[in-house]
Amino acid sequence: GRGCPLVVRGTVLHFLDDPGDPPDPATWELFEDGALVVGADGRIAWTGHARDLPPGLSAGAERVDHRGKLIVPGFVDTHIHAAQVDVIASYGEQLLQWLDTYVFPAEARFDDRAHARALSGFFLDRLLAAGTTTATVFPTVHPTSVNAFFEQAEQRNLRMLCGKVLMDRDPYAPAYLRDASVAQAEWETRELIARWHGRGRLGYSITPRFAPTSTVKLLTMVGRLWNDHPDLWIQTHAAENEDEVALVDELFGGRSYIDVYDRHGLLTKKSLFAHCVHIDDTDRTRLAEAGSAIAFCPTSNLFLGSGLFDLRAAREQKVTVGLGTDVGAGTSYSALVTLNEAYKVTALRGGTLSAQRGFYLATLGGAKALDLDGVIGNFRRGKEADFTVLDFAATPVLARRTEVSESFAERLFALMILGDERAVAATYVMGRRVHERAARG
Ligand code: GUN
Ligand code: ZN
Repeated sequence: GRGCPLVVRGTVLHFLDDPGDPPDPATWELFEDGALVVGADGRIAWTGHARDLPPGLSAGAERVDHRGKLIVPGFVDTHIHAAQVDVIASYGEQLLQWLDTYVFPAEARFDDRAHARALSGFFLDRLLAAGTTTATVFPTVHPTSVNAFFEQAEQRNLRMLCGKVLMDRDPYAPAYLRDASVAQAEWETRELIARWHGRGRLGYSITPRFAPTSTVKLLTMVGRLWNDHPDLWIQTHAAENEDEVALVDELFGGRSYIDVYDRHGLLTKKSLFAHCVHIDDTDRTRLAEAGSAIAFCPTSNLFLGSGLFDLRAAREQKVTVGLGTDVGAGTSYSALVTLNEAYKVTALRGGTLSAQRGFYLATLGGAKALDLDGVIGNFRRGKEADFTVLDFAATPVLARRTEVSESFAERLFALMILGDERAVAATYVMGRRVHERAARG
C-alpha cells in the first residue's frame, strides 16, 4: 500500500470497453476537471468530477495537482524484449538475419548475472519514463535473465509478466544460445514458475521463442505444461516475416503458421502472439475462438520491413489485440510513438485508428489481451492505481496544435500522433510516483 490516501486532480480519461470505429462515447469516461482517489492500499477508491469528490474519502489525504494535464491508466506493452536494450536501432537486416547478426549475440551476455541485473533495471526505468506500467516481457534462454528481471520488477512493485525463453532447435537456435534438452528446459521452467508465479504482482508466461527455434518435442512440452497450469500465460512470435513463414512451412508443414501452434495446444485464452502480419481469416477465426490475443507491433514491423498488420480484419473477426513496442526490433519504448505508427500502418491498410481507440488499445485493450483487466487497465474502483500523467504542452509543436484544437478528441489525437516520452510528466504505480519528468530549460 501507500500509507495514506491520495487525491489526484487533473483531466481523467479511462475506458470501460472497446470504442470501436467510429468510436462510441458510451465506452469511456472523461472528466475534464476530474479527480482520482487512491486508497491507502494503492487501489482506486473513487474517480469522477472534482466537484463531486466525496469529503469522507479525501479527509486526511495527500493531494497532488495535475490540473491541465491528462491522467490515463498506465500503458500496457503486450510485447517487448528486456534483453534487446543494446540492439535497438541495428542496421540493415530483416528478421532472420537481424536475429543472427545482432540479437542472439546480445542475448548471450545475459548469462552474466550483473549484466542481466543492470540491463533489467535500465529497461524497467525506460518503461516507466514512457508511462508504461505493465508489460509482458521476453528475457533470454538463461534462468539468470528471468531472475534478474523479476527481481527488478519486484523492487519497483510492478505488475509484469515474463518467463524463460525456450529455444532448442538446431540450427535456428544457435549452439551458444540453446536449451541443452527439453527435459532440462522444462525443469528450469518449473523451478522458475515455483519461485515467481503469483509472487506479488508478478506472473509467469511460458515463452517458446517462435516455431523455427522449437522442436516438435519442445512445443509438445509447452502444451502439456500449460494444461497442467492453465493459470500461466503463453507468449511467442507468429507470422511476422515472409521468409519466416516459408521456413515454418518447410519445417512443420500443415495449414498455416498459426496451425502449427494450434496443433500443439498453444492457442489458449492466456496466449499472446506477437505480430501475426501474415495470417488469414481461418487463422483469425481460430485465434478468436480460442480467446488468444495478438500483439500489434507497428514500429517493429516497419523497421524490419515485415509488413502491415491488418487491424481492421482483426477487429471484424473479433480477435483481441494489444499494442506492443517490440523493442529492440521496435524503435521506441513509447506507447504514444507506437500509436502514431499504428495509425499510419492502419492508414496504409485503408482504415483509421481514432485517438479513443488508440488510447483504449494502449490501456484496457492491452490489459484484456493479457487477461489482466480484472486488476488493471482502467479506473474502476478496486483496481490497482497505476497511472500516467500526460502533458499537452510537452513540446512547442504539440502545445501549439493543442491550443488551436476545438475539441478534446482533436487534442487527444494530436497527443497520440506527436507525443513521446517528453509528454509523460509523471508515472504512478499503486498510487506512488515512480517517475517524474526532469525539469526543462
Ligand atoms: N522472432 C523470434 N525472435 C524474435 C525477436 O527477438 N524479435 C522479433 N521481432 N521477432 C522474433
Ligand atoms: Zn519480439
